[in-house]
Amino acid sequence: MDKNLQQKLWKTSFALLILLIIALGGMLMWQYVLLDNKVVAQQTWETLNRTYFDSEQTIINGDISVETINELVEYANQLKSIKYRGLKQKASQAVDQYKELALVNQLVDEIPNEVMASAQWEALNLKSTMNIEQLMQLKQQRSYGAQDAFFNQMNQVWDYYETRLNRQSMIETQLANLPMDVTASLIDTLSVQLMELETEIEQLGHSEVQKQWREQLQEKVSQLAEMVQRLNEEEPLSRSQCQALFQSKQFATQLSGTELDPRLLVALTFDDGPHPDITPQVLDILNEYQIKGTFFVTGANVDKYPELAKRIVDEGHYIGNHTYNHPDLSKSSDEEVIQQLEWTQESIIDATGATPFMFRMPFGAGGKRVVHLAQALELTSVIWNVDTEDWRSHDKDAICEQVKTYLQEKTLMLMHDTHQAAPDALRILIPDLITQGYEFVDPLSLGYDNRFFE
Ligand code: NI
Repeated sequence: MDKNLQQKLWKTSFALLILLIIALGGMLMWQYVLLDNKVVAQQTWETLNRTYFDSEQTIINGDISVETINELVEYANQLKSIKYRGLKQKASQAVDQYKELALVNQLVDEIPNEVMASAQWEALNLKSTMNIEQLMQLKQQRSYGAQDAFFNQMNQVWDYYETRLNRQSMIETQLANLPMDVTASLIDTLSVQLMELETEIEQLGHSEVQKQWREQLQEKVSQLAEMVQRLNEEEPLSRSQCQALFQSKQFATQLSGTELDPRLLVALTFDDGPHPDITPQVLDILNEYQIKGTFFVTGANVDKYPELAKRIVDEGHYIGNHTYNHPDLSKSSDEEVIQQLEWTQESIIDATGATPFMFRMPFGAGGKRVVHLAQALELTSVIWNVDTEDWRSHDKDAICEQVKTYLQEKTLMLMHDTHQAAPDALRILIPDLITQGYEFVDPLSLGYDNRFFE
């Protein structure tokens, strides 16, 4: 090749290379020096830090205002240099998160940061006017698509409330579908409907909403219960129909102890305590089996052991009035009876904060007169139909034998939490009663309505 031409080509390429280098240099200079608006970048960073809730900047701050977001958008728009590409992306992600959060905020009242951190979505207050149709409409407006931690959290919120609103709308329909009138042929369907409803309401979890639905169901069931009782008067229901009905907890509560109640029921009652050694043992056993007992305490013992009386109430058991110092009320004047009952009410209220509504006459003595005197103090007399005679035998085997002999379909059992044989016998009696199919209720839900011994 011509040497001249070769030289020329060489020179041209060299010149082009230089030009290229200059151009590149210029571009870099333009991007990194001339477009480097450091101050705006700094402001963007600071705004971003306020926007996020965590230091890793993954989840947006629930309290963030629209002004802050607008500021962020404004700053980010001013960033031209490719050097700030990452920062711009971060800012645009924050804006997207804000939009998603604004959408969720149409669903719930507000989202405190603690809830964001703990993911306890049930702690949020769903807007009272929200229904499943509105939720689905809002959900369609979602635009956030990044598969990140925030997205997963928001998905949980949407799913949680979708499930809940679906459940509520189901409950509403089922409630509306309950029959207006009860006929014998409807009993089986009705009991299934009620059980399904109860399960749905149960699954709402402890909340204000659950309480409201439960109350609505309760109201409906009380109307149905009246109809069932009228129906039973015209044409007695069969045992299996009653059993079907009583599978519904609400029905069982409303008709507990009536002649329709096919269940084996027992109320455990303990007199003369609280006793420092025995009462705690009895409470432990009852709690272990999740059974509520009734303790007829004397005012004198409550004054001696107020913390035990409080434990009875705090652990959900019933506390009843057993007079102040256990006199034979059949030999007391009206004034003495009232004084005995009032003193004891005061002791119990002072120790526990609870006001007793049941009382038991010492020795079951006092008759109609005492029942009426107590009624004036809003106390219902509770006697018993199975005496374990534990006070006589102080022997667990004798107690069990006694119960076995006298057990009834609706048993109101008398025991005393004042001696070791009582908790010892309970350890045998409770599992035995459970095996026989007994349910444990309070003394007033038994349907045993005798208030005094003739
Ligand atoms: Ni007694």
